[in-house]
Amino acid sequence: MRAELEPRPADSPPRLSVQPMSHADVRAVTHIEALSFSASWPTSAFSSELSDNKLAHYFVGRDGSGGDLIAYGGIWVILEDAHITTIAVHPDWRGRHYGEQMLVHLIREATAGGASWLTLEARESNHVAQRLYRKYGFSVVSTRRGYYSDNGENAVVMWAGHLRSELYRKRLDTLAAELENALDVDAS
Ligand SMILES: CC(C)(COP(=O)(O)OP(=O)(O)OC[C@H]1O[C@@H](n2cnc3c(N)ncnc32)[C@H](O)[C@@H]1OP(=O)(O)O)[C@@H](O)C(=O)NCCC(=O)NCCS
Repeated sequence: MRAELEPRPADSPPRLSVQPMSHADVRAVTHIEALSFSASWPTSAFSSELSDNKLAHYFVGRDGSGGDLIAYGGIWVILEDAHITTIAVHPDWRGRHYGEQMLVHLIREATAGGASWLTLEARESNHVAQRLYRKYGFSVVSTRRGYYSDNGENAVVMWAGHLRSELYRKRLDTLAAELENALDVDAS
């Protein structure tokens, strides 16, 4: 559970070990969710996504030693379109490339599932997430006014397109290689 996590030891591997989310993960995921979002999904929402939504693909990330669950993310893949429904890293473990590793995994899963377009919503004030998405070729295509019911904040809708094109694949490979280098530096 997130609240029981200690800060990552200096020698802990920086690579995220990503696996499909299982029902056994939902409690820990919901805990990170509550720490990450003011309008958070309850346990039942994740359970129902895992049980009932055939379009949904959810993943969890553990620190490289296979230990604590520290990140998660999900996509829906609907033919050529995919939607990032959620992504979060435990607050104690942010800024260490875990979110980026999860995003790369989600993008690769979306393209492997046949998607050419990937969309998501982010709070207008969530500059950290928007910066991460921009790095991976997402741009803002519209604003949904008052989208978030907890405080009436606007959502920005972001898209990345032509994911299966040579151009995007090269861009993703280059970014993933740079990420690998950064992880090697972190590990040294
Ligand atoms: C968004 C989130 C998943 C990013 O995960 P993270 O592990 O902290 O981020 P990373 O260390 O992988 O950083 C990847 C990129 O994110 C951006 N970023 C991360 N931390 C940042 C910060 N403090 N300020 C600005 N940009 C930041 C940068 O673009 C960074 O790339 P760079 O290192 O090349 O500059 C994480 O902050 C989180 O869980 N936030 C709460 C939940 C949330 O907002 N989810 C998104 C909903 S739309």
